[in-house]
Amino acid sequence: MITANTTLCAIFGHPIKHSLSPVMHNAGFMHLKLPYCYVAFDVLPDKLSYAIEAIRVLNMRGVNITVPHKEAVIKLLDYVDEEAKAIGAVNTIVNDNQVLKGYNTDAKGFEKSLLEAGISPKSQTALLLGAGGSAKAIAYALSKEVGKLIIYNRTMSKAEDLKNHIQSLKSTTCTIEVIDNLALTAPSDVDLIVNTTSLGLHSDDPMPIHKEFLLPKHIVYDLIYHQTKLQETALVTGCRVLNGLGMLLWQGVLAFELWTGVKAPVEVMRRQLHSLA
Ligand code: ATR
Repeated sequence: MITANTTLCAIFGHPIKHSLSPVMHNAGFMHLKLPYCYVAFDVLPDKLSYAIEAIRVLNMRGVNITVPHKEAVIKLLDYVDEEAKAIGAVNTIVNDNQVLKGYNTDAKGFEKSLLEAGISPKSQTALLLGAGGSAKAIAYALSKEVGKLIIYNRTMSKAEDLKNHIQSLKSTTCTIEVIDNLALTAPSDVDLIVNTTSLGLHSDDPMPIHKEFLLPKHIVYDLIYHQTKLQETALVTGCRVLNGLGMLLWQGVLAFELWTGVKAPVEVMRRQLHSLA
């Protein structure tokens, strides 16, 4: 029941109608009978600063930030956590008595999803497809674990920028390579392939890599929530395949705990996500 004492949380993004976060968080709040509710707001880029000010004005407790605002929001906050600074993106805001604090739960969410699948990328070679917003958090998470990180992106300069950024971080322990043409230089020693590109969002999209590159030994982690050509082909090849629901769940769990201070009902939130995806 929403009452005059309900605490508001939200997600700001554009577009936002497809977001699964409201159902996931509301299921968690209801299960624990917490007086919170979570809604989605479609926030245009030129209105972001007003939306952030509204967190204070309306005394909202927490907000998730998604595409395309994760980087632009940083300069609008009072405090940014070290990990979010290193990644260069914020996906979670906590309003602590009008002080807006920014966190990034995407990287830890990705790590938790690997951990719960029993996958350790320690000392392995990872091929990261894409160098956009979500690739930043994944590259940061992988760069603390893998032996080698190979980045491929359609726009090579963005892959180079991501490489330079990750290389400059104290937390990075791996070597990083950028490849400019996946067709000519398919790396042979790869263990883990992570797709962060938007290829696969639409059913007629081509795969982000040629199917000939896939080997049964590969673990294929596709950040897209639904079944894609990449996921289908990887399954047929005999690869272990993960989709984006695991990372979505765990980044949400971590945000939920930052806002409420209580342990999130992970299985309730997972069931909701899987029933909708
Ligand atoms: P997100 O925050 O979801 O990562 P993004 O920052 O817009 O979204 O990044 C999208 C990624 O998908 C980028 O790596 C993009 O490549 P470019 O940097 O070259 O734009 C990639 N991508 C999008 N459409 C693509 C396409 N048709 N072919 C190959 N890569 C594509």
